[in-house]
Amino acid sequence: MKPLGFAAVLALSAAAPSPTIVLREQAWTPGADARASLEEPAECLASREPTVEIGRALFRSPALLGGPAARAGLSCNACHSGGRRNARFLLPELTSRAGAADVTSEWSSKVRGDGLANPIDIPDLYGVTRRTTFGQSRDPSLEHFTRGVIVEEFQGQEPSAEVMTSLLAYLRALDEGECARGGAAISLSSAADDVRRALSAAESADHETARLVLLAAQDAMGRIVERLPPRRFGRERARIEGLSRELGAMRNAGDIGATLETALPGWRARFDASVTRLARRERFTYFNERTLARALAQ
Ligand code: HEC
Repeated sequence: MKPLGFAAVLALSAAAPSPTIVLREQAWTPGADARASLEEPAECLASREPTVEIGRALFRSPALLGGPAARAGLSCNACHSGGRRNARFLLPELTSRAGAADVTSEWSSKVRGDGLANPIDIPDLYGVTRRTTFGQSRDPSLEHFTRGVIVEEFQGQEPSAEVMTSLLAYLRALDEGECARGGAAISLSSAADDVRRALSAAESADHETARLVLLAAQDAMGRIVERLPPRRFGRERARIEGLSRELGAMRNAGDIGATLETALPGWRARFDASVTRLARRERFTYFNERTLARALAQ
């Protein structure tokens, strides 16, 4: 699957009630102001071991899901932001009230649709691995439930054993005790870190999973690009899109392990240099509240 282009965002913007679409997530958080769009629930992880990091990258990637949900840019994280509950989630195709989603919708699922609009509250996933049943169907297996979310609810491809192990390791690592409850700022630095962490995760994954994790890294780069106003940052956008295409080429390499080993050090140096240059002008990007507020008001 290709990373989502801006065409998808524009297609959604036609249906969405909000006047200007600057960020892809506005499709499922209509009406969020600039401050809200620069914050997410803090993610508290008890571990950063490679398996957890692979799971984290996949949890944030639309490529794990399929069909209309993936095309709209939804990921697990869109609903369970930072593993918590996205109380602003209000994608019209899935819910009529904020913080809920219809998990038996025709829109996202060919097999689960029940013809009814019956959204239920999105649960917080902290401590989920200590629960004994999952979802309203009271599934006794977290693995079986999660596979169902991917394959049946969202038409994603059958996840490999490593994908499942990593996702479950991520869910297990979400730990309340690790930090205070609250919000975390979305900044250029946090967005760049998502890219770096996904790439490190790709290096420790098996070949098939590494391809999926590289796709997650490309999606994370898209989340930087969309926060760079096109007119002012044309050159920087092109540079980051070029770096993303390089990841795309690595993904398609025959021996992805050897390719990453050779190509990533140089890639990282160029990515870091781009981010450093951008950081000097961060106040003119949509990582800045005033700049974003102005764009949303247009
Ligand atoms: C469109 C919003 C949405 C997306 C995307 C989404 N979920 Fe959920 N999730 C929900 C809702 C709503 C429930 C409650 C479902 C139920 O009770 O059957 C839920 C339930 C769960 C549960 C069970 C929690 C419990 O306490 O029973 C887990 C685990 C979970 N989701 C993991 C995931 C993972 C992993 C992904 C990505 C592959 C994902 N979800 C994607 C909305 C979403």
